[in-house]
Amino acid sequence: MNVLLTGGAGYIGGAVARRLRAAGHAVVLVDDLSTGHRDTAAGFDLIEGDFADAALVGPALRRHRTEAVVHMAAHCLVGESMQRPAFYYENNVTRSLRLLDLAVAAGVSRFVFSSSAAVYGEPERIPIDEDHPTLPTNPYGETKLAFERALGWHAAAHRLAAVSLRYFNAAGATADGGHGERHDPESHLIPNVLAAAAGGHPVEIFGSDYPTPDGTAVRDYIHIEDLAEAHRLALEAATTPGGARALNLGNGGGFSVLEVIEAARRVTGRPIEARQAARRPGDPARLVASSALATRVLGWVPRHADLDTILSSAWRFLEKRAR
Ligand code: UFG
Repeated sequence: MNVLLTGGAGYIGGAVARRLRAAGHAVVLVDDLSTGHRDTAAGFDLIEGDFADAALVGPALRRHRTEAVVHMAAHCLVGESMQRPAFYYENNVTRSLRLLDLAVAAGVSRFVFSSSAAVYGEPERIPIDEDHPTLPTNPYGETKLAFERALGWHAAAHRLAAVSLRYFNAAGATADGGHGERHDPESHLIPNVLAAAAGGHPVEIFGSDYPTPDGTAVRDYIHIEDLAEAHRLALEAATTPGGARALNLGNGGGFSVLEVIEAARRVTGRPIEARQAARRPGDPARLVASSALATRVLGWVPRHADLDTILSSAWRFLEKRAR
């Protein structure tokens, strides 16, 4: 299939691009490299620029006879979204709608959208399935939900086959250690823990008084290779014109911040200094997915669910970069 992938130079986008290519799809990336990395896109056909730029993306969609768009480019930091809501609405909704129009005008028939567990807000029950109420607690989650809903209406109006994939906590690196997580500045737990293992600053534990077994927050860490495979399956399964559905992607098991730190000590064989710190505003105590629907609809089963496997892949990536 001919696929245009926005955000393909990013952390999850880079893994998806590699998986789609390995499965035989012809992938063209669009990325403005504002947070993505040029070397992530190396070896791919990269259109450098704004995914909503009609003069850039419209002709590219036609030139490549694009059948499917995978839209991953987004602003994705919860804290930043609280400070700059308009920035999030502009990119994640307004400009994303422009891309959707360009795709429809170019005859694209499938659209896969990167959504987030953030659409649910504070969980009412665990595990979270797709019928759980969607009540985002920050602009990031609001914008992801707004676009999901717009996509549903567009799919119906234009006979698109659409899928929104709601990621829980993306983690880990590709098996060869060649592609992994590196944000600047880094705010995510696993890279911060591994940086501490590598001799950086001690890791801060944001909140030790949550109503969880050890008092620290619990998240559902899902390996990027499992996420990437889910995109391939979603793309290939999206055959119902006018159909739009949302699917959770998680392991269905949660790990606390302390469990992640302990596993990182085990995997790296290094001491990791950790300090207690205040809760981070807006962080729920527990986010754990039910991905039963993705399993039923796509036949998707996470293969790298084990925390040590996730951490060792991320550690391999870090060590490889340090060499
Ligand atoms: N944490 C620490 N110390 C750190 C970093 C994080 O204790 O240095 C804690 C956080 O408070 C949280 C957990 O570790 O409880 C995981 O934090 P991350 O920043 O790694 O991930 P989040 O769960 O905050 O964010 C993820 C995605 C976001 C998405 C969000 C949806 O990365 O893109 O889930 O809820 F918006």
